[in-house]
Amino acid sequence: MKNTKSYPAEVYLNGNWMPPQGAMVSVFDRAFMFGDGIYEVTPFYRGKPFRLQDHLGRLKYCLEEIKIPFDFSILEPLMFEALSRAGLAESDAAVYIQVSRGVAPRTHYFPDNPEPTFLMYAFPVQLENFQEKRWKVLVSEDFRWQRCDIKSTALLANTMSNEEAISGGFDENLLVRDGFFTEGSHSTAFFVSHGIVYTHPEGPHILSAITRKVVLEICRDLEIDYKEEAFPFDKISEIEEIFVTGTTTQITIVDSLHTGGKEIYSAQKGEITERLQEEFWGRTRV
Ligand code: PDD
Repeated sequence: MKNTKSYPAEVYLNGNWMPPQGAMVSVFDRAFMFGDGIYEVTPFYRGKPFRLQDHLGRLKYCLEEIKIPFDFSILEPLMFEALSRAGLAESDAAVYIQVSRGVAPRTHYFPDNPEPTFLMYAFPVQLENFQEKRWKVLVSEDFRWQRCDIKSTALLANTMSNEEAISGGFDENLLVRDGFFTEGSHSTAFFVSHGIVYTHPEGPHILSAITRKVVLEICRDLEIDYKEEAFPFDKISEIEEIFVTGTTTQITIVDSLHTGGKEIYSAQKGEITERLQEEFWGRTRV
């Protein structure tokens, strides 16, 4: 089932708040022409940001990697303003930020002295009861580029994969590159095998996800063994638990994995995932 989502009442575009119908960007904006932009999604639990500095740090890293100059000092107060203007100052919500290289005559090389296009808005998110969700997940080939650490707006490979999953009645994809699971189309993947939690190491093949970092911290604190090692697709029979994580996904149990019209994994137990979920709940709801 596809969700129908609504537009926010107001967005912040290049210095002004306005209704989305009036928020216009040039056809020569490089995000429109090339997907030449970066985005970030930061969660707010009942109005309180969670890991704000990590999210802003990743935005900074990504903008520096693609050489878009940007003034970060304006961001924090604007994020809170976005929440209160949307009536979400006390609610579970998230703030979307997007920075593109701005408008320039079309060239593949970067224009000199770009003036970035900056968009921000807040939107409500259902962040409760994530522990109840059980996702049916499609295994897909990871045909994305080699810089998945850059949170680029150029998400065509992710959206094509996820469209295949959703239209087939699945909730998410797990992507496989060269025989190893990398991550989801919009989430990080974790596998429990022989009591050890596995997740792909950071690098160009996954996003350096903030929820991933939190889950690994929890593993250390709860003395749950983990390895930052890619899990091989051909060891599926040795998996005890699978879960995916993300800012809006939080920690969601994968109930089954499917490929080629067949179920290839079905969750039997979930003790480690449940411990992580409980601790995650405590850390986000302080
Ligand atoms: N997606 N991997 C990918 C490819 C993602 O798109 C995301 C998040 C994650 C999880 O990252 P984090 O824990 O920092 O949210 C991993 C966001 C929320 C999105 O595209 O809307």
